[in-house]
Amino acid sequence: MTGITPVPFVEGWSFAQTLGEGTYGEVKLAINAQMTEAVAVKIIELKKAKHSYDSIRKEVAIHKMLNHENVIKFFGTRKETDHQYIFLAYASGGELFDRIEPDIGMPQNQAQNFFRQLIEGVSYLHSLGITHRDIKPENLLLDENDVLKIVDFGFATIFRHKGRERKIDKWCGTPPYVSPEVLLQKPYSAEPADIWSCAIVLVAMLAGELPWDEPSLDCDEYCSWLQHKIQYSPWKKIGTLPLALLRKILDENPAKRATVQSIRKDRWFKEQLRQKRRLSSPVSFPYSKRKVAAYSVSESEEMSLSQPEPGIAFTTSNVSDESVGNLLHVTLSQPVHAENMLLSTQLLGTPADSQTALQRLVKRMTRFWSNKSSHDTMTAISDVLQKLEHTVKKVTATELTVTTKDRRRRKLIFKVFVYPGVGELVTSQAKDYQTLVDVRLSKGDGLEMKRCYDNLFKRLNMDLMIRKSVVGAA
Ligand code: ADE
Repeated sequence: MTGITPVPFVEGWSFAQTLGEGTYGEVKLAINAQMTEAVAVKIIELKKAKHSYDSIRKEVAIHKMLNHENVIKFFGTRKETDHQYIFLAYASGGELFDRIEPDIGMPQNQAQNFFRQLIEGVSYLHSLGITHRDIKPENLLLDENDVLKIVDFGFATIFRHKGRERKIDKWCGTPPYVSPEVLLQKPYSAEPADIWSCAIVLVAMLAGELPWDEPSLDCDEYCSWLQHKIQYSPWKKIGTLPLALLRKILDENPAKRATVQSIRKDRWFKEQLRQKRRLSSPVSFPYSKRKVAAYSVSESEEMSLSQPEPGIAFTTSNVSDESVGNLLHVTLSQPVHAENMLLSTQLLGTPADSQTALQRLVKRMTRFWSNKSSHDTMTAISDVLQKLEHTVKKVTATELTVTTKDRRRRKLIFKVFVYPGVGELVTSQAKDYQTLVDVRLSKGDGLEMKRCYDNLFKRLNMDLMIRKSVVGAA
């Protein structure tokens, strides 16, 4: 039996593990007893004042109307005394921001592919008169085929009904992603505001960083953009063609801002990007080495400016002297040990069952394995985090809350969970990896959390060969 125990929910279904959390409560993965079906369940604590029942009803009413390939599928709801459950399709490919390498981004062809899907999803919402109002990588998930799914309709609202459009007057969203007019606290048009947020997501994908804290004249980085100063990061990392598109979208004036129609006609948006020839043998996990293997070039640009040179890309994955890797050998859990996400041997079912189930299981990159007991792993993690000057609070023997400030001095809170005992289920080559560590954002910028995660991981893990050999075991 593993340390992660499924908790029975409705008949025939158990909660497997937490997929995400936020102010509303949590999203958990629920699996059926046959291990053939998985759904995501958003659990809203009704006592939390922030969630009036009306706002939940609105979220449900909106989500129910939606049926599009780039919007997460809504299955239904269930209300109990203290909780509201919303059942959603489970997106097993993880969050979009897991594909973004901090300070680097992702290959241009991938960014283009995700951006196109994002625009299609947002355009669909707009065609129904719905605005999402909180587009950001954390709200963009991927399914098993890397199809992008927009999630979380908690801030969504109707801006057009029976052909009549209204302006939005409520401040909504996340400061780095909101458009300048939203900050002005005056009624604004819904569509250009969502489109702006899509462009900020594109910057994050192409450069691995956000351009500003918020688009206000108090923010130097935003003022530089208005003055066309593009010699700085993130702009200098972005190729000419995508930058030209960003210039059209990130227009301060919402009336002049590029629309879905004009974006669809944009040269980079339409361009057929091809994958650059492989620079090294591909490996199966989506970040660290894979980024080197898949740089894209456009037909018009030989080497995308948005991507670092391979040498630079590798340095971030390389080991640090201060690492305590000799104490802990850690390894990425993805994607080989997806079977370890299964929660007990009886849930594995037959090999055929587990194969189906495997393909649908949790894929998250902020997760690794350690070869030490959960206690020793926790202690080592705590030590590293404290050395990194984060505030570490031990919530239970298996859970830490970490509070810190990100590079822009904004509050960042994340949680570290350890799950002991999974070693019994792993393959013989990997059976020493007995503790699963899962790092999850609680509050703040997901990209910044990933930077912290990468630092933690690097300092814990001295030996890339060990990680690689375990990954190669499957
Ligand atoms: N996190 C939040 N919603 C999710 C979903 N539908 N699938 C996977 N992870 C999620």
